[in-house]
Amino acid sequence: MSTTDQSSRIGGFHKLSIADRIEAVARFAGLGESERDHLLNTGNLPPELADHLIENVIGTMNIPVGVATNMRIDGRDRLIPMATEESSVVAAVCNAARQCYDAGGFVTSMSGTRMIAQIQLTQVSDPQAARLRILERQADVQAICDDCDPVLLKLGGGFRELEVRVLETRGGPMVITHIVVDTRDAMGANAVNTMAEKLAPRIAAWTGGRTNLRILSNLADRRLARARCVWPLAAIGGAEVRDGMLSAYHFADADPYRAATHNKGIMNGISAVVLATGNDTRAVEAGAHAYAARNGRYASLTHWEVTAEGNLAGSIELPMAVGLVGGATKLHPTAKLALKVLGVQSAEELARTIAAVGLAQNFSAMKALATTGIQKGHMALHAQNIAMMAGAVGEEIEAVAKVLVERGAVRIDVAEEVLKGMRAGKA
Ligand code: MEV
Repeated sequence: MSTTDQSSRIGGFHKLSIADRIEAVARFAGLGESERDHLLNTGNLPPELADHLIENVIGTMNIPVGVATNMRIDGRDRLIPMATEESSVVAAVCNAARQCYDAGGFVTSMSGTRMIAQIQLTQVSDPQAARLRILERQADVQAICDDCDPVLLKLGGGFRELEVRVLETRGGPMVITHIVVDTRDAMGANAVNTMAEKLAPRIAAWTGGRTNLRILSNLADRRLARARCVWPLAAIGGAEVRDGMLSAYHFADADPYRAATHNKGIMNGISAVVLATGNDTRAVEAGAHAYAARNGRYASLTHWEVTAEGNLAGSIELPMAVGLVGGATKLHPTAKLALKVLGVQSAEELARTIAAVGLAQNFSAMKALATTGIQKGHMALHAQNIAMMAGAVGEEIEAVAKVLVERGAVRIDVAEEVLKGMRAGKA
């Protein structure tokens, strides 16, 4: 044990400077000088900004940003920045997009930019009457909500709908109020949470019940992004490939075990763009998976069909709560750059673009799985990772990786042996 202080009770840790926090962590974990220096290097995210984004900052975590090429969306070519640590994700989008580019690419749309916030009301003896009492106050609800955010109102957003449900629960009936708010170019969490908190005491007063939670729903089903695309039969390699892909989709749509992996692949693409643009990956992921289970069984987020001409038509629809203002989007220099590269002018445009990326990702995953399998594509880059883990640097990385792939043995022990041999050969 190389540590000198094993207590996690570090009083005032949050008040320390980044450098002092690193020292405290170094004492706890026995970090050496080069490890402390590594943490101090925050790359292209200024330390003072990192320190304001989250609490107790001691460093940053750099993830590669790749650019997917070949994407044509609603008649416009776009380059797509994607932040991911996983090999093949960017290549998958490039490949899928290349195979539908000449046929016109992706067509997208969106249901709107409305978010839902929920207010939980308990301890009401007459929940049905309470429900109506709240609905009768729609004008008051609107005024309270719109009062919270005059800027949003000026931008054309604000309160849109009031919905109230009586929910039977283990803890008795609850009256759940939904306020539906158009948050325009903001993801909207702050806007709707503020409104829900403001409204809650009034709901309690109108009904005589007790309000408990007041928070947005990540099942943002009033903010559905959609994308569709047709891949010509010739471009994808013929009817056998198409039918294998269709069968893969039928499998996913029928089986939650497969659907989880199928949708994970979709989210490989989606989360990478969400992260690159400084948006909330967990919000989008929670929304996507809840939406995939909306009919009572977890199923595919995409649909795949054969057109009258025999081509493969794919479509996707899922909640996409992303924004261009607020949070890291406006602060993180890389996120700002990513948005500039994307060239989107609104949250809606961003959401639609992301849906197209999800569809492209799914196309490539299904195609690989239904033909050569996923490992072939993965292995070239994975082999490079293994080579680096074995200590390869510079030109050695590709050289070692090549040997690993040729031998069909992408393993650390083999990489070490190959590297040793190479270096001995050079000496
Ligand atoms: C790997 O990250 C994603 C896939 O497993 C997706 C899929 O199975 O459809 C390849």
